[in-house]
Amino acid sequence: MKIQGTPYRTIWPAEDGKSIEVIDQTMLPHVFATSRLSTMEQTADAIRTMVVRGAPLIGATAAYGIALAMREDASDQALDAAHDYLLETRPTAVNLRWALARMRDRLRNRPRGDRFEAAWAEAAAICDEDVETCRRIGTHGLEIFRAAAAKNPGRPLNILTHCNAGWLACVDWGTALAPIYMAHDEGIDLHVWVDETRPRNQGASLTAYELGGHGVPHAIIADNAGGLFMRQGKVDLCIVGTDRVTANGDVANKIGTYLKALAAKDNDIPFYVALPSSTIDWTLNNGDDIPIEERSATEVTHMSGRLADGGIATVQISAPGSPAANPGFDVTPSRLVTGFITERGVCPATNAGLRGLFPST
Ligand code: MRU
Repeated sequence: MKIQGTPYRTIWPAEDGKSIEVIDQTMLPHVFATSRLSTMEQTADAIRTMVVRGAPLIGATAAYGIALAMREDASDQALDAAHDYLLETRPTAVNLRWALARMRDRLRNRPRGDRFEAAWAEAAAICDEDVETCRRIGTHGLEIFRAAAAKNPGRPLNILTHCNAGWLACVDWGTALAPIYMAHDEGIDLHVWVDETRPRNQGASLTAYELGGHGVPHAIIADNAGGLFMRQGKVDLCIVGTDRVTANGDVANKIGTYLKALAAKDNDIPFYVALPSSTIDWTLNNGDDIPIEERSATEVTHMSGRLADGGIATVQISAPGSPAANPGFDVTPSRLVTGFITERGVCPATNAGLRGLFPST
């Protein structure tokens, strides 16, 4: 996607051939800055501190982390240590585990002398595949959007999304936002309600930034407004991304997703989840078994933003000393999900549905 006319991915190899560049998402939407990562530890830190975030991008960054580790020490021990170290960075998005396993499998039987080059190429392949996968998710989702728009001619298709499942969460395009971009580009009249997504505000800071940059009509809403808008007929369709889908179709996504799915169900509004197959955890059969990341309480008690003088500041919004809890994700049971939009097409949110599209994974 483009930032002020210049095409960007969220992650790319630096020209020195031994480090990577990423968009620093902690600075958005106020400052567009990139960050250079030259060591495995720096990639781990970027994932942990959410300089990069979003399930597919976390996986892609970790893949490059393995490559950077191999540049320093290509032994089996270093490979295992880098795998284990990176795996600890964030617990919920399963794309991390998927990418690390793929890197280790591809490198394990290669001679040590080849490992850095092979790892670098494999990480680049993961990034390229992610772009193509998201493009395909977009084309399959576009069919759904076309049909939904056709049902309501003469007025915009109103879509609600939660968190950021756009190109910033992936390498390019995004998952849930890919069909939105494609529908907008082909002239479908649409409008997006963007949940702000407290506490880290990925909706207000990132999704709105993306949509605005692409010229997609949208409005940021408080997380609590979606239910009212659904009852008022102001939402035609919900679409979200996901950090992990279990084999039975349960969906872990950013905290607050479950409440939107409940409200959508109560109002007969389709609730779609867009995902690459790397987000399916075939080893789990129940969403309640997904590890839910508990993040710092200060994300709830404090907020950051831009001051009138242009400076960025963090302020406390709670009474000093008030404790806070901060689960990063919740689980939406498969029965609340209308369908999955994947790179291979759309399927019911069931084991049979997923297996129908991915029989041999
Ligand atoms: O904590 P984050 O920002 O890494 O959260 C992950 C996400 O971006 C969302 O949960 C998203 O909806 C799924 S990832 C495409």
